[in-house]
Amino acid sequence: MYTILKIYFLYEWGVFMATASTALTRNEGSGGEIDFPQSLVSFIDEWKVKPGSLIMILHKTQETFGFIPQVAAEKLAVMTGIPLARIYGVITFYHFFKTTKPGKHKISICLGTACYLKGGGDLIEEARSLLSLAEEGVTEDGLFSIDPVRCVGCCGLAPVMTIGNETYGKLTKARLPEIFAKYREQG
Ligand code: FES
Repeated sequence: MYTILKIYFLYEWGVFMATASTALTRNEGSGGEIDFPQSLVSFIDEWKVKPGSLIMILHKTQETFGFIPQVAAEKLAVMTGIPLARIYGVITFYHFFKTTKPGKHKISICLGTACYLKGGGDLIEEARSLLSLAEEGVTEDGLFSIDPVRCVGCCGLAPVMTIGNETYGKLTKARLPEIFAKYREQG
């Protein structure tokens, strides 16, 4: 029994470390210094002594930089005393946290139930194809990135896409090229 438990533990640990190292490999912003604004430093100082603070600190870090660069994760480990592997364990567990810089225009396509039933899945495929984007990443010009999201709170307009603060409801695949062109013109 002990041997089985030991093998299971080693397997789980191996999966965890593989996930964390993948995140580290594909991460941006490694190998340098990063300045944290005073607002972030104060937030970390306030929260690091509280139990369960890591998620709050990661949220604030992503809010500050738009994603969580590797150097920021490393600095958080030093500032909080939380091991880097644990920080990456949390970052990779929650899809909300991003380790790559998003596009200037962040596209979110809703895959909540109402939107999915009205073609949200087709929309996301078409958008990725039009922008030549894989599941993750940013267009070569840095303008666009696409994230699937779960219900943005206007199901009556399904299927829904948001770009920045703009919401596009009852969206069809046919409208996507014209919408993307508008943002491309803005640069
Ligand atoms: S399911 Fe898409 S807005 Fe609610």
